[in-house]
Amino acid sequence: MSGGGRGRLAGKKALITGGAQGLGLAFGRMFKEEGAEIVLTDIQADKVAQAAGEIGAAAGLAHDVTDEAQWKEVCAAAEEAMGGISVLIHNAGIGSLGNIETETYEQYRQVMAIDCDSVFLGTQAAMPALKRAGDASIVVISSVAGIIADANFLSYNVAKAGVAMMSRSIALHCAKARTGIRCNSVHPVFTRTPILDPMIAMKGSAEEGEAALTRQIPLKRLGEPEEVASMVTYLASDESRFVTGSAFTIDGGITAGSGR
Ligand SMILES: NC(=O)c1ccc[n+]([C@@H]2O[C@H](COP(=O)([O-])OP(=O)(O)OC[C@H]3O[C@@H](n4cnc5c(N)ncnc54)[C@H](O)[C@@H]3O)[C@@H](O)[C@H]2O)c1
Repeated sequence: MSGGGRGRLAGKKALITGGAQGLGLAFGRMFKEEGAEIVLTDIQADKVAQAAGEIGAAAGLAHDVTDEAQWKEVCAAAEEAMGGISVLIHNAGIGSLGNIETETYEQYRQVMAIDCDSVFLGTQAAMPALKRAGDASIVVISSVAGIIADANFLSYNVAKAGVAMMSRSIALHCAKARTGIRCNSVHPVFTRTPILDPMIAMKGSAEEGEAALTRQIPLKRLGEPEEVASMVTYLASDESRFVTGSAFTIDGGITAGSGR
């Protein structure tokens, strides 16, 4: 996706977690191109500050999404930096490889805290600001792993399925309470970011690792961060104003054969 957006997000004020690299940074870039103000947050404090400077974000904040108190501080800081929050992107996350026999409970708890509980904590903390915005969009970055299971994605499967259902419940509450807030989940397949490194490394060479992943995808390639960013931009924009409680796959066809 080249520069020169069409202002599809003009006037939007977006808080994006996990913005130091990968998908979060790609969202930040596209949002800026489309005219939004953005605040990036990440547990990698130096890296997110640098990324924010490079793409012209209003702020790049140190933030552990598992920490309830930090969520309150980050929401206050983001609201101050942008004059409000009208878009919340729950993107921070970690991968995890383990099956029911190998996964430790400690690892399971960590994945649940970062990939699932953070959406509860963050949405709750941001609700007052989102309500003040009056017309707001929450996007939860789940995964195809929230739809189809894998023997070695135990914790990740549970966490990503959990946030998809949380997204629907949030959407229904926000509709019922007439908040003007929408909420949707996005489900990418393997997309070219650092989160894939451990899976690619397992196969020996980068070529073999990537081939092992792409073999599973009908379109026979990885996703690109900009492709996911296009979908998230749509959901953040007014173009999707009648869309809430929905789950969007962006997966090269992988879930089409799963009996969904
Ligand atoms: N890349 C893929 O193949 C893929 C596919 C489906 C879903 N996803 C999801 O997309 C999201 C973004 O992942 P990515 O591919 O860009 O990976 P990534 O590893 O490049 O980026 C994840 C970011 O989250 C941050 N993070 C991790 N723990 C955190 C914490 N406790 N608090 C705050 N920030 C934290 C990391 O520092 C990192 O910058 C994740 O939720 C991931 O599960 C990715």
